[in-house]
Amino acid sequence: MNNSSSGKRLIDALNRRTIDRPPFWFMRQAGRYLPEYRELRAKLGTFLDLCYTPAAAAEVTLQPIRRYGMDAAILFADILLIPDALGQKLEYRENEGPVLDPIRDAAALAALKPDAIHDRLGPVYETVDRIAGALPSDTALIGFAGSPWTVASYMVEGHGSKEFQQTRLWALRDPQGFGALIALLVDATTEYLARQIDAGAHAVQLFESWAGVLSEDQFDRWCTSPTRTIVTRLKQRYPDVPVIGFPRGAGAKAEGYAAATGIDGIGIDTTVAPAWAARTLQPTCAVQGNLDPLALVIGGPAMEHQARHILETLSPGPFIFNLGHGIVPQTPPENVAALSDLIRSWRNG
Ligand code: CP3
Repeated sequence: MNNSSSGKRLIDALNRRTIDRPPFWFMRQAGRYLPEYRELRAKLGTFLDLCYTPAAAAEVTLQPIRRYGMDAAILFADILLIPDALGQKLEYRENEGPVLDPIRDAAALAALKPDAIHDRLGPVYETVDRIAGALPSDTALIGFAGSPWTVASYMVEGHGSKEFQQTRLWALRDPQGFGALIALLVDATTEYLARQIDAGAHAVQLFESWAGVLSEDQFDRWCTSPTRTIVTRLKQRYPDVPVIGFPRGAGAKAEGYAAATGIDGIGIDTTVAPAWAARTLQPTCAVQGNLDPLALVIGGPAMEHQARHILETLSPGPFIFNLGHGIVPQTPPENVAALSDLIRSWRNG
């Protein structure tokens, strides 16, 4: 580690610099657990309308920063804006989540329109620009996208799933055909993130939420390899913009993923032992995680005990405090305040 600072704790941690305390932010820090989010969301109609309305999307991005002063804001958008922009029909249903017209063959794939995605995504870049202009100077702005495998899983199944059988079957039966979908997503995702960086994002995160359903060879082929291509292309254009990967559920495969993809930071889910991550991942990468989002629902000593254990184990190395997955809607906002205070008063070294 060295001591020159970017003025942003999140970026310093990703660059393996020494800092006074670990930076923190929380996945899904904007959202339904906040009354001010629910109020704005109710005024705006659909969730997609909110994502594509820059003034509103910027406002909900900033809501948790005003309350809790996290070290990073994350763009308010969704990983499924890419399929939407490609022309796949997408709808978010109450209590059901996203529903898409499934893509399972070459004909459905050929109907996608990769050339025009940035017309639809233009408002997202405007949102990034607005947030970047409104954040305190020590607060980083994280842009994001879903990783190709995870986005493809929703595109092929047509909805969320536990097993993603249709997607895994297509990938095994016809790797070339499925590979064409992944290649299309690699291109679209790289350009989507590049434009977020052009608009003012200081770092980007790739969400690989469904890394956990794949065997080793399939994980290498559909998670690690496409991610490496995206990271390599971004680094050619933006060598100083850190990339965080979050291969949720990857378990021990996270080690190879961290080494092979060239990411600067790796998100770990709640099931990963902090001591294992310190030993195995921190030599290659800053580690980001991994408080159980349900400990944040409970709060009090149970939450504090787990948070302190994570801080003690991971803060000697490059570390960003986060949850192991997103904040859930029933989380009491005062518990988020208590956790933020606990991390803010922590001192490294
Ligand atoms: O605060 C933030 O973290 C930024 C915004 C953000 C959202 N989605 C907003 C959202 C981010 C980073 C995401 C990522 C995302 N979206 C992922 C990867 C992370 C993960 O959770 O594993 C995935 C798989 C999605 C797809 C998605 N979007 C699902 C499955 C759902 C329905 C489930 C749910 O929580 O409602 C969404 C909708 C969604 N994305 C909401 C929000 C705030 C809820 C929409 C609402 O307000 O009704």
